[in-house]
Amino acid sequence: VLSRWTSSFSVAGKRLKKPLKKIGNKDCKADIAFLIDGSYNIGQRRFNLQKNFVGKVAVMLGTGTEGPHVGVVQASEHPKTEFYLKNFTAAKDVLFAIKEIGFRGGNSNTGKALKHTAQRFFSQENGVRRGIPKIIVVFIDGWPSDNIEEAGIVARELGINVFIVSVARPTTEEQGMVQDIGFVDKAVCRNNSFFSYHIPTWFGTTKYVKPLVQKLCSHEQMLCSKTCYNSVNIAFLIDGSSSVGDNNFRLMLEFISNVAKAFEISDIGSKIAAVQFTYDQRMEFSFTDYTTKEKVLSAMRGIRYMSGGTATGEAISFTTRNVFGPVKDEPNKNFLVILTDGQSYDDVGGPAAAAHKAGITVFSIGIAWAPLDDVRDMASEPRDSHNFFTREFTGLEQIVPDVIRGICRDFLDSKQ
Ligand SMILES: *[C@@H]1O[C@H](CO)[C@@H](O)[C@H](O)[C@H]1NC(C)=O
Ligand SMILES: *[C@@H]1O[C@H](CO)[C@@H](O)[C@H](O)[C@H]1NC(C)=O
Repeated sequence: VLSRWTSSFSVAGKRLKKPLKKIGNKDCKADIAFLIDGSYNIGQRRFNLQKNFVGKVAVMLGTGTEGPHVGVVQASEHPKTEFYLKNFTAAKDVLFAIKEIGFRGGNSNTGKALKHTAQRFFSQENGVRRGIPKIIVVFIDGWPSDNIEEAGIVARELGINVFIVSVARPTTEEQGMVQDIGFVDKAVCRNNSFFSYHIPTWFGTTKYVKPLVQKLCSHEQMLCSKTCYNSVNIAFLIDGSSSVGDNNFRLMLEFISNVAKAFEISDIGSKIAAVQFTYDQRMEFSFTDYTTKEKVLSAMRGIRYMSGGTATGEAISFTTRNVFGPVKDEPNKNFLVILTDGQSYDDVGGPAAAAHKAGITVFSIGIAWAPLDDVRDMASEPRDSHNFFTREFTGLEQIVPDVIRGICRDFLDSKQ
């Protein structure tokens, strides 16, 4: 992957043999935030060595308009964004900007800084590019002063690949002072050793530049670029039986629209389908019918109320076969959200178990007269977190965030 660019540098990083072209390394497109350690722990001298190292990485990456873009955030008492992805695209300008960074001091508060970077740094207005891997390289001298696990989860949910570069790890004697000795494993994109990188000391780091650059340019390894928002298929199975009524049917459509809105719908992203059932089933639209959010939402508004009996079991089997069947070999994770307001005339447990077995995670939502046992039986394990009940259709609104969060939680769990 590095081919052309690494060959322009001596591996020891002594001197550039050829000047970098402005366009940068096209084979390593990535948007990278370096989160540097600005704590008292590292101190001014090692802070400068850290800046040197980051500068060398930025140059060897081939930073440029068509290649990687980089920015820097400094972790200290309060995180400070030193510069954004869009501020500088030429490697020499990046190098100069890094040289200018002043040491702040204080606690490292790495968790706080990581969360800040994940949430604030990677916005379109700050220069993030669509469809390009987002990476945060976190430098930690010793150990973090706060907890970084939650920040790691936030970053993963946002589709950011977190790397941890730990320098001068705590010695056996120091380990008692560390809040959480497993901090690296908990914050990285994936606990598989690819995302963690260890450097014994800040003195003599040159030989550590190239292996890190190679990692940062291995796009196929960026497992966290996929998120619950851009990599799921969600089918809605909605009860069109007579007991629902026109107004409540509208509330169900509003519910499914509000869930769908949270996802990034496209032919390469998340996909949405809907089936309405009574004794009969009607495919309102399949996963491939609409591939933009606008079209999906407009199709949902256009769903016409059937009115009739309730055969939920058969409807689940229909959806497993006809909606999920065609996408079963695709990489997106599959979810089925069932809404029903009453007793089914047929058995729901068997068809639901078959759906679970086919790799479909089922969320069931019972409304009004829906028997709690049936609602539970349809839900995936652990059942408590996959079934919901509301006495009134107006209560559906409150369940929207729970379903979205549930999908994201299951998505992350499935990737561990
Ligand atoms: C980076 O760009 C922003 C917005 O354009 C600007 O406000 C900021 O001063 C720039 N930072 C540097 C270090 O040039
Ligand atoms: C990371 O992986 C190792 C080995 O697979 C395991 O022992 C450890 O518990 C994991 N740590 C975390 C935080 O998941």
